[in-house]
Amino acid sequence: MLRVHRRRLSELQSITLEEQGECIVAKYLVTGAAGFIGRSITAELLKRGESVRGVDNFVTGKRSNLVGLEKMEFIEGDLADQSVCERVCQGVEVIFHEAALASVPRSVVDPVATNTACVDASLYLLNAARLAGVRRVVYAGSSSAYGDTPTLPKHEGMLPNPISPYAAAKMAAELYMGAFARVYGIETVTLRYFNVFGPYQDPTSQYSGVMAVFCRKLLAGEQPTIYGDGEQSRDFTYIDNVVHANLLAAGAPAEKVSGKVMNAATGNRVTLNYTFKELAQIIGYKGEPAYAAPRAGDIRDSLADISRAKELLGYSPIVDFAEGLRRTVDWYRNSSNT
Ligand code: UD1
Repeated sequence: MLRVHRRRLSELQSITLEEQGECIVAKYLVTGAAGFIGRSITAELLKRGESVRGVDNFVTGKRSNLVGLEKMEFIEGDLADQSVCERVCQGVEVIFHEAALASVPRSVVDPVATNTACVDASLYLLNAARLAGVRRVVYAGSSSAYGDTPTLPKHEGMLPNPISPYAAAKMAAELYMGAFARVYGIETVTLRYFNVFGPYQDPTSQYSGVMAVFCRKLLAGEQPTIYGDGEQSRDFTYIDNVVHANLLAAGAPAEKVSGKVMNAATGNRVTLNYTFKELAQIIGYKGEPAYAAPRAGDIRDSLADISRAKELLGYSPIVDFAEGLRRTVDWYRNSSNT
């Protein structure tokens, strides 16, 4: 019998894996469901009336991100534990694999933790998924795979060139996705995300993405720090675009997309200096940023060629950079997360 659990947040918080003893079947599994991107994908699936199971270990995900997701069946657990992977895959048709330890600098400090969370956990999940008969895994790849090769825009035909432990780990799991599609026939799709930003991105960690950090600081009237000269550029991608790409990737015909890698981005880039100016204007911050030495493992420029996602998924961005900035600032302004 198919049954989807619906739980209130107060109950969610107390559920541990050991306590899940019943037959529960959801169509979709979102890993890292309490994280920024996992949370956003889950919210959209629920909005569409889909049944969703989420898993998170709360290392970087937040319990507060589960507010509003009460219709999700939630399991607290760590995917680096194979029994957790086996459990969460049961009965699922499609997985959105967002769980990771994001951050280049975090991986420089602790490459082993990054490997465990991004490589071991992904392999265990994939293996459990194929054994459980999961049809498709949509994987959160990273633009960091391209490294600092001067070619712009970055297209999927380029040789990967990871220059940080984080990039190497995300790339390793991406290779597993391709191998599992070839060897076991499980459908896998990798979306290489380019600097995703938007509501629910954690601004409080030393490893937070730059957009979240800038929003928090500028709204508090604090001076942000730019590492390097600020002329490094990124294809900053508003969260709705990435959610959109994920849902397209879940629904696209297997013969078109399985085993494939594609960029999920906007196809435009801006510098950090420009980003700071735009945010300062929206927020009304009058000061200047501080400048500090460039970060180890940082790349200079990043810009995606999104033609493959256009061709294979029918993807194109639905929210542009300026609108994304406005929505993001609004959210931080109105939330207690800053
Ligand atoms: C990288 C990956 C991205 C991945 C992310 C996970 C690339 C192009 N992108 O992003 O796919 O999802 O890691 O964390 O490799 N910065 C400041 N001041 C701050 C914080 C950051 O100047 O307070 C600078 C950084 O030095 C960097 C830029 O802002 O030059 C962006 O940093 P960040 O948001 O951490 O993302 P990436 O490292 O580019």
